[in-house]
Amino acid sequence: MAYETLLFEQKDRIGLVTLNRPDRLNAANQKLVREVRELFTELKERDDIGVIIITGAGDRAFSAGADITEFEGVNLANAFGYVRNFHSATGSIEHCGKPVIAAINGLALGAGCEIAISCTLRILSEKARMGLPEVALGVIPGGGGTQRLPRLIGKGNALYYVLTGEQIDAQEAYRIGLAQKVVPADQLMDTAMKIANTILSKGPMAVKMGLLSVQQGLNVDQESGLIIEALIANVVLSSEDKKEGSKAFLEKRAPQFKGQ
Ligand code: COA
Repeated sequence: MAYETLLFEQKDRIGLVTLNRPDRLNAANQKLVREVRELFTELKERDDIGVIIITGAGDRAFSAGADITEFEGVNLANAFGYVRNFHSATGSIEHCGKPVIAAINGLALGAGCEIAISCTLRILSEKARMGLPEVALGVIPGGGGTQRLPRLIGKGNALYYVLTGEQIDAQEAYRIGLAQKVVPADQLMDTAMKIANTILSKGPMAVKMGLLSVQQGLNVDQESGLIIEALIANVVLSSEDKKEGSKAFLEKRAPQFKGQ
């Protein structure tokens, strides 16, 4: 499918999504929000794609947030739907069933930050900055920021950034666990590709189920999470991949996983 605000290309089993409104620092207008949901809904069904990388066009921004030029048209009658559109876009990323790596090349503010935190992992260029500046505009983060950020970096840190709107530089993002790696700008995409390929070299079912177990476990208390883990582990422990993984180890060779 052709998209107006996104670029998509496939490199082997990696899907590369680029937020593509560089003249607006890849700000998320309603079109982009809709297209993100459509693309990730499609990618969820694609068996030929195992890992997705998402980045921003240009060298300045991943995305500078919700498109502020659209704010004027948001009112009491349509605000709930406006926000829920952002939720379904970020939800489509979080629940696409595959690891999604945000390769953050510059500013990831507001909805840009919210897209990034709906991804599985965040790799930042040294010059990247993240943040939820919405309070400066008299609004609150409405793309999942008030919910996903505390789950990632804890309540106190999340409240600090939601209430001050302060930008988080790459090293601080790494220190508080928001970024998994910080690399020089010219190594960002190579690093993201390398991580994607590392994940792709592992048991496909184990990757999918490990992701599911962490995600579902975080929605419930720990004891219920352990039950979820046991049930999901049961599926993986009876898989062909498990047989092949252990056989290959004992035979001192690389496994040939089939994702079954
Ligand atoms: N919505 C719509 N347009 C945006 C935008 C946004 N969130 N962020 C940037 N743009 C546009 C700018 O208006 C500008 O357009 P113009 O060339 O027609 O004037 C263009 O993108 C380039 O941005 P500019 O502000 O000139 O770049 P800068 O380097 O001076 O500043 C920012 C970068 C990100 C600090 C600044 O653009 C900004 O504060 N953006 C808003 C961030 C924000 O509050 N996001 C959360 C929204 S809820």
